[in-house]
Amino acid sequence: MNLLVIGSGGREHALVAKLKENAEVQKIYCIPGNPGIAQIAECVEIDSLDNAALVAFAKDHSIDLTVVGPEIPLSNGIVDAFKANGLACFGPTRAAAQIESSKTFAKQLMAKYDIPTAKFAVFNHAKEAKEYIQLQGAPVVVKADGLAAGKGVVVAMTMDEALAAVDMIMCENVFGQAGNQVVIEEFLVGEEASILAFTDGKTIIPMVAAQDHKRVYEHDRGPNTGGMGAYAPAPIITAAVSEQVMKEVLQPTIHAMESEGCFYSGCLYLGLIMTADGPKVIEFNARFGDPETQVVLPLLDSDLVTIMHACINGTLADATVKWKEEAAVCVVLAAGGYPETYHKGDIISGIDKAEQQGAYVFHAGTASDKGQVVTNGGRVLGVTATASDIRQAVDKAYQAIESIQFKDMHYRKDIAHRAISKA
Ligand code: AMP
Ligand code: GLY
Repeated sequence: MNLLVIGSGGREHALVAKLKENAEVQKIYCIPGNPGIAQIAECVEIDSLDNAALVAFAKDHSIDLTVVGPEIPLSNGIVDAFKANGLACFGPTRAAAQIESSKTFAKQLMAKYDIPTAKFAVFNHAKEAKEYIQLQGAPVVVKADGLAAGKGVVVAMTMDEALAAVDMIMCENVFGQAGNQVVIEEFLVGEEASILAFTDGKTIIPMVAAQDHKRVYEHDRGPNTGGMGAYAPAPIITAAVSEQVMKEVLQPTIHAMESEGCFYSGCLYLGLIMTADGPKVIEFNARFGDPETQVVLPLLDSDLVTIMHACINGTLADATVKWKEEAAVCVVLAAGGYPETYHKGDIISGIDKAEQQGAYVFHAGTASDKGQVVTNGGRVLGVTATASDIRQAVDKAYQAIESIQFKDMHYRKDIAHRAISKA
């Protein structure tokens, strides 16, 4: 079997590593990949938004399964193009990917089908959005409708911040067309969790729940980032909560998508906030999360290739999806200055040594330079460790990190602190 993975981050590195465990896999290609992925797959430079070129590549290389990491190729219709050519591609179609690519779509779907979420209103004009904010008062949440690389959400603690967010999104067009509409949302209070689920459009099977850490500094201080670490399982998602989420969110969402003519298959990512009134959806993503994937997939005790084929073929109800009775922790090593400006091109040492200690070192923002691995992004590496419980996984991950060095490297020392304090 030959496989193709689209993407270049830590999430895709974790996907490739897991897919490779299937003994029938001969070759994995990754477009465009990164230096870590290049050690276990062949990286190929093709524009991941050029659907015709990607289809041609898959045909030429007899690809049996394509897995799409990021949201942009999904909302660019990669799955539609592969399907039209009889190629198996894991992920939702362009229409179904709207659940992530349009917050208005997602919110209206939840309202129509009674899926618990924050109260909201949608606006096409800044003036009306601002009038509404003035009526609601702060704190309030302002969200650009479209894809904004995770930056289109402003949790405004004051009225001035909320009004400025509307100006930034709708008047200064910081996110381009993604800001033609805004969603103004009720501010919810509670602990967050991420639930990723496999689905073939009928059956939906949740993965172990995870929690990521979005703020750059310890104790959730500082600006939001793409994610400074994650852990799984998240103890806040007890068996009872999981059942409730299945009944109130996952199943209704899959049925709603089908009723709306947007049959959804692939991985559905649920961002939840555990309010006093129960779990509520803060966002859907149409793909695996990053860095959640780096802790969830190492815990999967079943064959990922088989599960993904079952999602594509509509046979997920017959598939085996088992989880190891272990815990996983991923700590992101970031470049000095991130999430503001940071330096690139610094030599990274000690990756091999960290791996010899039993950690997975997933590359996120790295490049190869004259035979050396160097920094090439804000989030550089994700170091994942698994162990029989969360405390041991934390110790193992931080111990492995001791071996890794690059100039001005920084990372959070408190990943998984919430789980540990509950243990
Ligand atoms: P999103 O990109 O929609 O996940 O939002 C990014 C972050 O903003 C979330 O992880 C939450 O921490 C926060 N957030 C989003 N919506 C709300 C809300 N309605 N109430 C409180 N916090 C929110
Ligand atoms: N970890 C959040 C995301 O992947 O969007």
